[in-house]
Amino acid sequence: MGLNIKGRHFLSLLDYSPEEIRYLLDLSKDFKSMKRSGMPHRYLEGKNIVLIFEKSSTRTRCSFEVAGMDLGMGVTYLDPGSSQMGKKESIADTARVLGRLYDGIEYRGFEQSLVQTLADYAGVPVWNGLTDQFHPTQMLADLLTIEEEFGFLKGLNFTYAGDARNNLGNSLMIACAKMGLHFTACAPKALFPAEDLVAKAKEIAIESGGSVKLTEDIKTGTTNADIIYTDIWVSMGEPDDVWETRINLLKPYQVNAQMMANAKPEAIFMHCLPSFHDTNTTIGADIAAKFGIKEMEVTNDVFESKRSRVFTEAENRMHTIKAVIYATLH
Ligand code: CP
Ligand code: NVA
Repeated sequence: MGLNIKGRHFLSLLDYSPEEIRYLLDLSKDFKSMKRSGMPHRYLEGKNIVLIFEKSSTRTRCSFEVAGMDLGMGVTYLDPGSSQMGKKESIADTARVLGRLYDGIEYRGFEQSLVQTLADYAGVPVWNGLTDQFHPTQMLADLLTIEEEFGFLKGLNFTYAGDARNNLGNSLMIACAKMGLHFTACAPKALFPAEDLVAKAKEIAIESGGSVKLTEDIKTGTTNADIIYTDIWVSMGEPDDVWETRINLLKPYQVNAQMMANAKPEAIFMHCLPSFHDTNTTIGADIAAKFGIKEMEVTNDVFESKRSRVFTEAENRMHTIKAVIYATLH
């Protein structure tokens, strides 16, 4: 294939060419079929990785752990608060320590500049497991899920409904632009992605044959969509007092049966998860009691419908993360 990304960091898809993303998706497919057929792939025996989480996680943490173990590696998990990082030791010092002990470092935290600093000092590949701005490993899983569904990526109509300036909105806009999808952010103006990032995405889309559009209008934003994607309305790290404003802003952008009916008949629903589609969580129940809303960014009927691909996306996190680890370390 002629592509080699050994030694590279994985901080944002902005740093990766469409050919490199294609290579990672193809590698993910290989790993998925190896896993499905029970073929061992302990290609990285003797190596060790560390996972730093400053925010909580189910999918990302478990995907890195299972991927690491399947590849034959040792895996250390550092939970929020259990290391010295940030409190007694700077990110730069932590990076220089961990870089001497491990072959790769995953980091989930707040500002993108933190994972960048870690990468600048570690001397080994650093993988972004989510920051306030970007969630690149999620993107690979989402692109893989879409390609498995439709057989291709280029030219598909992708609508992101909801908080379009969060890590998912930003990342999906870039991922779609890189791979030639037609991306629409369907959101209130106050939650449009930052202008400079939109300009960058539009430039990238010119190269790939895709496009980038922002609209407040739900009908315009969702008509003929092949994919409708949403994410929670208040992200990790945001204060609780934004819930009320966010609910008021985003209630019209809830993905429900009416919105799905605007999309193509074969359209799929996607969500990175976790999702507030019912009140079976403490936060979901608390919001229902406070604001009288039992389903937030997606209704339970859409979440549970045959058009929903959310659990395939979750599984694909592991196969794609395995591809990133392997490609950057082997
Ligand atoms: N989608 C995702 O990143 O999930 P976790 O927060 O559970 O890792
Ligand atoms: N926007 C969400 C994504 C979770 C995977 C958050 O940052 O909390």
